[in-house]
Amino acid sequence: MSMKISVIGTGYLGATHAACMAELGFEVIGVDVDPAKIEALSEGKLPFHEPGLGELLRKHVASGRLRFTTDYEEVASWADVHFIGVGTPQRADGHGADMRFVDASVAELATRIRGTALIVGKSTVPVGTARRLRGLIAANAHTDAQISLAWNPEFLREGFAVADTMSPDRLVLGVEDATSEAILRRVYAQALEADTPLIVTDFETAELVKVAANAFLATKISFINSFAEVTETIGGDITVLADALGHDARIGRKFLNAGVGFGGGCLPKDIRALQARTSELGLTHTMGFLAEVDEINLRRRERVVRLAQTMLNDKLVGARIAVLGVTFKPDSDDVRDSPALDIAVRLFNAGADVLVYDPKGNKNAAERFPRLQYADDLPEAVKDADLVLLLTEWAEFKALVPADLEELVATKRIIDGRNVLDRAPWRDAGWEIVRMGQHYAPLDGEL
Ligand code: UDX
Repeated sequence: MSMKISVIGTGYLGATHAACMAELGFEVIGVDVDPAKIEALSEGKLPFHEPGLGELLRKHVASGRLRFTTDYEEVASWADVHFIGVGTPQRADGHGADMRFVDASVAELATRIRGTALIVGKSTVPVGTARRLRGLIAANAHTDAQISLAWNPEFLREGFAVADTMSPDRLVLGVEDATSEAILRRVYAQALEADTPLIVTDFETAELVKVAANAFLATKISFINSFAEVTETIGGDITVLADALGHDARIGRKFLNAGVGFGGGCLPKDIRALQARTSELGLTHTMGFLAEVDEINLRRRERVVRLAQTMLNDKLVGARIAVLGVTFKPDSDDVRDSPALDIAVRLFNAGADVLVYDPKGNKNAAERFPRLQYADDLPEAVKDADLVLLLTEWAEFKALVPADLEELVATKRIIDGRNVLDRAPWRDAGWEIVRMGQHYAPLDGEL
């Protein structure tokens, strides 16, 4: 008998997981409380930008293997395995993860399931959540229901969501019984046949793997950015430093790119939630270093604003600044906690005349900050600019050469916030170009 799968929550994680489960051959139903989202997805329309996912969605809506609903009643009686992929946003008070959506979706299922079912948590949660949810399930379940719980964290990256789900680096299963493990081994049979490392463990370890991975990645980025502060002060080349460090296999070159810092819906929120959770556990100092990681990260934004101000001879008010890139990373339309958007807003608040262009992010940015101005394309953004800022490394920005801009700008000045441009041709063409980690001393003429 083929397995029937439900995925609760159709945001980034849930929509990707649902479409990929259909691609693996399962019958899948996606569930969300937002009727507009469900209607769009049912018509094969993806409410966000993710390469390759729209095609997969349309393929399986058409094949009939993938459908969407808002009706928990239908889902609870139909599916054998329920994946929980709802959001765990930062709480409004700034401390800890908001668990309302996880708790509500598990309770909705538990009150309705009859017979045997497996609930699998995928959302990123504070350690101890699965154990707590087991109590919630027990308190809500029918007497004739046997509901098991497992924790299976998701490590997908935006921009690579489909590839990361179909061919993950590793699979982590937090389980309490052999049957749950056997079911999940069937779900992931294809990846396991391809020798994907499988870690079968307890709830707490499974929950911690995810937050530890994101804390490590965030730390790596802030580590190199802290050295960028040093080279910005005394000189040195941060990219060469990262390359040299990266040759040590114990360190590795990935996630050592200095720049405007990390953003997005995961890294910033997860390091804050981990600090909040460990404090709750009485470990007030244990994750203290993550507060530093966060601060180093936020200082990058301030660095760009100060650099812009210096390059503009302290005249930010009224200066025309073109901001290229507003998403937190390329190949995404996500502007959550985006360093690029934050920098654009800070410059705007300082009185600059900011014009933003992003290949996919303008719409989401405009919803958050309607007072910023948005350009439809790159030439419109850089027209008459006193300063150009490259803040997200989209392919079209990485490929820029001086000739693309110099007829348009008012002054040939550019800050490369992602260290993706080769300085020499820009300097040769008469540009003032400053990268992250670069010592900037206009009076020396040393650029
Ligand atoms: C991250 C994790 O990588 C993923 O495993 C987890 O499931 C969710 O969180 P994502 O948020 O999609 O994924 O972005 P990621 O590619 O990790 O980049 C995060 C941020 O760090 C981006 O803003 C990126 O620009 C920045 N970054 C990354 C750097 O500033 N320097 C680097 O060297 C790498």
